[in-house]
Amino acid sequence: MSIAFCKTRASRAGLRQDPRSFFLIMYTYDSVDIDSGGNVMQETHYSLFPLGFLRSPLKDRGAAPNQGREGAPDAWLEVHATVAEGLEGIEVGDELIVITWLHQAGRDILKTHPRNDETRPLVGVFATRSPDRPNPLGLHRVTVREIAGKSVKVGPIEAIDGTPVVDIKPVLSPPADF
Ligand SMILES: C[S@@+](CC[C@H](N)C(=O)[O-])C[C@H]1O[C@@H](n2cnc3c(N)ncnc32)[C@H](O)[C@@H]1O
Repeated sequence: MSIAFCKTRASRAGLRQDPRSFFLIMYTYDSVDIDSGGNVMQETHYSLFPLGFLRSPLKDRGAAPNQGREGAPDAWLEVHATVAEGLEGIEVGDELIVITWLHQAGRDILKTHPRNDETRPLVGVFATRSPDRPNPLGLHRVTVREIAGKSVKVGPIEAIDGTPVVDIKPVLSPPADF
């Protein structure tokens, strides 16, 4: 694995640091061997960087509801100047899918009790919306409340303060993706 555009010296553990300290870090994998039933496939490169960060009154994940519609607050999505042009066309009242990188997730977890309810049997994380998963992408359907330059107030959203945002897409009507 190699790291490009490092602002600070960081490793994968850097994902647990203040997200602002790794703004332009891109993780690139030279190759990933995937054992696909006896055949080893050479995978390609992937890179991801934060478009911006959420500024939310939710300061820790334990205090956040499981989904936005379960009582989450609004939050400001502060987009980095280098990608702010990509916000053009978004208007107050629009519905968006915000895709976050749930940076405090446990990436080595493959089984979980749904909704952290230990009375429910363990299931695989891919059968749940658990934030703890190998690639901790969060999907959040939100409404645009306000726009101020390169900041967009959206909600309701249950991702905590400082969560990196890695993509923004409009909700299709009728919803086609979830
Ligand atoms: C169950 S996940 C759902 C995320 C998204 N709505 C989805 O379905 O993909 C939401 C939970 O993730 C946790 N969480 C919020 N922000 C986080 C972050 N930056 N890193 C790790 N966990 C986070 C909170 O405990 C919150 O209740």
